[in-house]
Amino acid sequence: MSWKRVCKVTDVPENGLRMFTVDGVALVIANYGSGFRAIPPLCPHMEEPLEESGVIADCALTCTKHLWSWDLSSLAMLGETERPLKTYEVKLENDDVLAFIDKELVYEFEDEDDMADDDFFGKT
Ligand code: FES
Repeated sequence: MSWKRVCKVTDVPENGLRMFTVDGVALVIANYGSGFRAIPPLCPHMEEPLEESGVIADCALTCTKHLWSWDLSSLAMLGETERPLKTYEVKLENDDVLAFIDKELVYEFEDEDDMADDDFFGKT
């Protein structure tokens, strides 16, 4: 894949987050005032949809579910945040926001079924 037009600059208000789908890849565009970020739509903590759970203030994106937070300018993790934010490269062309989508970025979440397959009684 390559650079893809995602939306107009004016489609995402300052300190806003909006979800878009480009060629079957869902992503959220975040406008933090001095720039834009393109990120996967789910919080890397527990899969909350960031378009709804995320708020942006002072360049920081915070998921309101458990307050994980990232500096959108430097991508530094803030406070108790334990996982970095994945991002697609972004550039502006005229009034458009473009993202470089090579492959869909996803987080690995712990599978709640991992406790199965206890072989305690299976050994002979
Ligand atoms: S789900 Fe986002 S901080 Fe926990």
